[in-house]
Amino acid sequence: MSDKATLEYNGRKYEFPVIKGSEDEFAIDIRSLRSSSGMITIDSGYKNTGSCESAITFLDGEKGMLRYRGYSIEDLAEKADFLEVAFLLIFGELPNEEQLDTFHNDIKAESHVDEEMKKILHGFPKSAHPMGVLSSLTSALIAFNPTSVNVKSEKEMYHAIIRILAKFPVLVAWCMRKKKGLPLDYGDDALGYVENLHKMMFKKPNKEYEKNKIVIDALDKLLILHADHEQNCSTSTVRIVGSSHAGLFVSLSAGISALWGPLHGGANQAVLEMLEAIAADGGDTKKYMAKAKDKNDPFRLMGFGHRVYKNFDPRAKIIKNAADEVLADLGIEDPILEVAKGLEKEALEDQYFVDRKLYPNVDFYSGIIYRALGIPTEMFTVMFAMGRLPGWIAQWREMRLNNEPIGRPRQVYVGETIRPFMPLDRR
Ligand code: ACO
Repeated sequence: MSDKATLEYNGRKYEFPVIKGSEDEFAIDIRSLRSSSGMITIDSGYKNTGSCESAITFLDGEKGMLRYRGYSIEDLAEKADFLEVAFLLIFGELPNEEQLDTFHNDIKAESHVDEEMKKILHGFPKSAHPMGVLSSLTSALIAFNPTSVNVKSEKEMYHAIIRILAKFPVLVAWCMRKKKGLPLDYGDDALGYVENLHKMMFKKPNKEYEKNKIVIDALDKLLILHADHEQNCSTSTVRIVGSSHAGLFVSLSAGISALWGPLHGGANQAVLEMLEAIAADGGDTKKYMAKAKDKNDPFRLMGFGHRVYKNFDPRAKIIKNAADEVLADLGIEDPILEVAKGLEKEALEDQYFVDRKLYPNVDFYSGIIYRALGIPTEMFTVMFAMGRLPGWIAQWREMRLNNEPIGRPRQVYVGETIRPFMPLDRR
């Protein structure tokens, strides 16, 4: 097999090296294209464009496969906890006991958030969407921790990473407590990372916090499943913002904004709203299937389809089982679930969806579990951000350590060519 690709245009030939990834994926390295030919490529939505070489996450959309640092998502979801997975993603290896203890203790030592941050939180109306609040608070954190990170120092890099891993769950919990009118809480250092997050979110001021293992395990699994997904929209945003050497916290804040959109992380909220709307409309799934297929109707079946998975989303399989377990264990009978099951069955048998390889994605089921766990619909995407945090950090760290150049795509200009300026009174 040749390790070069040839492009022929206007009687001239240009050669480009072909790069092979560790999972036998091939890419044409066009870094010299513009300087050698004067041309660029165009690929809106970047469906065929690799923005970097990365050693963090591998996914095969055709086979429905997802691995973090070489470990299958199935193994990690079953055998590891979220903090171990965070360490794995960020530093490349699963931690041993001592490393995990140190990691957790370092996080606990940084888990306070400056009291002044509460003023910023209270500046938002209760009706504010928690994703906007979370993005703002994450960005504001820099004002209270103003040292810039020297990425050449592993120690400084580590400290910045620990700080955000420690403070982010507090912000997540505050976003929800603000919405619910509950007093703000700082959690409990004696608890595990995910358990502490749960306590910070749900602890009532006049009641002892009761740990529920089923709930904590489900939450842990959900966070692991969301922890990274290679160069998706929000991760690419984090990398591109960070590539200007903007700091970690603001790069993450930009990632949160990108995640908010309903075509990305916001889909989990959109799924639940869609299921509720269908249930309120009499539960006629067939009517909504028809709407989803009608090209004159903007309605899309939320939670179906994926840019890269053209086979079942492996996370959806794990989450579907977890959803069944959680609902059974908690004894929840949810009419929304019946609508979801109906839609899933019909879509999997429908030629339109089969032809386009539109399978349920992770968001189709995650909302159902979040709802069962008592998390308000508007908080679903915030939970996604909580899960994605280690992935964003790992990707930002890799980008900075690889000394990647600033992200700056080109364009093909299709506007007006030069024309004379027309004074106001003659237009
Ligand atoms: N319902 C109905 N039709 C759909 C859907 C859907 N959910 N998704 C794609 N299609 C159709 C498109 O209309 C198009 O049909 P056509 O070929 O006849 O024109 C075809 O399938 C391909 O769709 P694209 O939009 O080109 O696929 P793309 O890869 O660009 O989009 C996306 C992927 C954005 C996820 C899309 O499937 C979608 O909008 N899904 C619903 C939103 C959603 O669930 N997002 C969550 C993604 S997972 C995540 O971010 C964690």
